[in-house]
Amino acid sequence: MNSDIGTSPAAESTEPTNVNRRRVISIMATGIVSPISLTSADAAAASAPDLLVDADAESDFKPLRPEDLKPAKPLLVFPFDAQSGKPKNESRLNKIVVVRLPEEKMTPETRANAVSGVVAYSSICTHQGCDVKTWMSKENVLACYCHASKFDLFDGAKVVAGPASGPLRAVPLALSGEFLSIAASPPPKAGD
Ligand code: FES
Repeated sequence: MNSDIGTSPAAESTEPTNVNRRRVISIMATGIVSPISLTSADAAAASAPDLLVDADAESDFKPLRPEDLKPAKPLLVFPFDAQSGKPKNESRLNKIVVVRLPEEKMTPETRANAVSGVVAYSSICTHQGCDVKTWMSKENVLACYCHASKFDLFDGAKVVAGPASGPLRAVPLALSGEFLSIAASPPPKAGD
């Protein structure tokens, strides 16, 4: 599963994790090669859901639950690499903004991508790429502070004001146990 939402070369890095590196060094030291266990471990890591962690945490990254988010308080997050215990990729292009909102106000398409009232979108503004993270409670929109574009998160983050060229990219969510995670595949469209 590829949860990277940015387009930078760094976001597409395939460099092995420290855990994998240690495993390779250990195999070289013993001379014993076990392709079956290596393959199954890598497959398990590849299929693990992408949990989400606070992008501003400097250490001690904790996967987020829906109740960790205060209503209408946006939070910037990164996908989390459980193997390394760190964000998967700290490129700012990989940042996601999550917000907990009243589900009954969402369009059916937006609700299908949300979980427990939490919606997620790329935080990169579609105008000139600033972080979009300011909630304007009077208008119930998410705003970009650079040139005042506004996005309706109840309706697919469509642009309701400003120069942004299109909606923020939606990131479908799921629950992995009690934790928020990126959905493995897009939810079915309404009517499917
Ligand atoms: S970069 Fe967001 S409105 Fe210009």
